[in-house]
Amino acid sequence: MQVIGLDVGFGFTKATNGREYQVFKSVVGEAAETQFNDQLLPAKATLGRHIEVGGEANYVGELAEQQSRGRGFTLDPAQFISKFARVLSLSGVAPLIDSNQPVRIVTGLPISFFRKHKDQLTQMLQQRHVVKLFKPGSPEWEERVVNVERVRVIPQPFGSLFNLMLNDLGKVTSQRFVTEKIGVIDVGFRTADFTISDKTKYAERGSLSTDAGISLAFTAIASALQQQSGVNIELYRLYEAVNKGTIKIRGKRYDISAMVRQAFQSLAAKIAAEANRLWADDWDIDAIVITGGGGAVLAPHMQPLLEGEVIPVPADQDARLNNVGGYWKYGMHVWST
Ligand SMILES: Nc1ncnc2c1ncn2[C@@H]1O[C@H](COP(=O)(O)OP(=O)(O)OP(=O)(O)O)[C@@H](O)[C@H]1O
Ligand SMILES: [Mg+2]
Repeated sequence: MQVIGLDVGFGFTKATNGREYQVFKSVVGEAAETQFNDQLLPAKATLGRHIEVGGEANYVGELAEQQSRGRGFTLDPAQFISKFARVLSLSGVAPLIDSNQPVRIVTGLPISFFRKHKDQLTQMLQQRHVVKLFKPGSPEWEERVVNVERVRVIPQPFGSLFNLMLNDLGKVTSQRFVTEKIGVIDVGFRTADFTISDKTKYAERGSLSTDAGISLAFTAIASALQQQSGVNIELYRLYEAVNKGTIKIRGKRYDISAMVRQAFQSLAAKIAAEANRLWADDWDIDAIVITGGGGAVLAPHMQPLLEGEVIPVPADQDARLNNVGGYWKYGMHVWST
């Protein structure tokens, strides 16, 4: 039995089997069908990003961003689950498993989509999927059967909590997360998720999803750039520019560092105010965990504004992987005997 953690985020898809990780942008596109196909495909592309699912060949992630004519990317939850989630999931999971062997998956959904989409996501995943994985930079492919026999869906921020609480064998190593009342703020690309774990029990009152993900700051940056350059930049093409603080559009370089700082500062203030308001009655919270890729970026701005002890995000880890790592550990916890 193989345990897989899977986090199909609006920004990035993440998957792990406990040993290796897959991380790529949640973008799906048509695979090219030219005679140059093999030479043009970057050989360093990862197995799984060129994948045939249900008879359709797709590029996924950065490969789709760079090579596909028709590209799909959405921040609409219903569309995301019905149109893209299957290809993104299989692109992440197929390279990590042994063909045909039973697979068990733990995955998560934002608090607000949990009730509505949990069964749909389970049904979509819990199947025997036959896919073709094309070898990067070559015309060869291999067939893989992703034989998913069980799926567990948990509220997204609990992934980060289990990541802190459990070790790689699925055993509890950090007692405070079992005995205390912990608030979790997970800032992703589209959503900011807030939840309270009271001695590991999910507390409805303190849980909420909002649209205050990093894309809100990116939207502000993209619209300022459009005014300056006349070019409408897709949000998923802004990560590198935001990191570097500069972007080149049609040969002209724009310094966006001040713009980025301001957009992040105001998003952080919005999220911190939301947390303080949501948890006003939960003054007995022991600690607050900030997580998610967006959480790592905003933490320095948020920390001074939050009322309570904040457990700092480890700087040496990719915070985008906190949830998926926890999903996998939780799978080990419930299924390894
Ligand atoms: N190495 C990195 N590359 C790209 N983005 C990064 C990196 N490290 C942190 N980030 C930040 O992480 C954010 C994405 O975080 P994350 O992967 O947790 O979101 P998501 O889970 O896809 O979104 P959602 O939870 O809304 O569905 C980006 O918007 C960016 O600000
Ligand atoms: Mg997320």
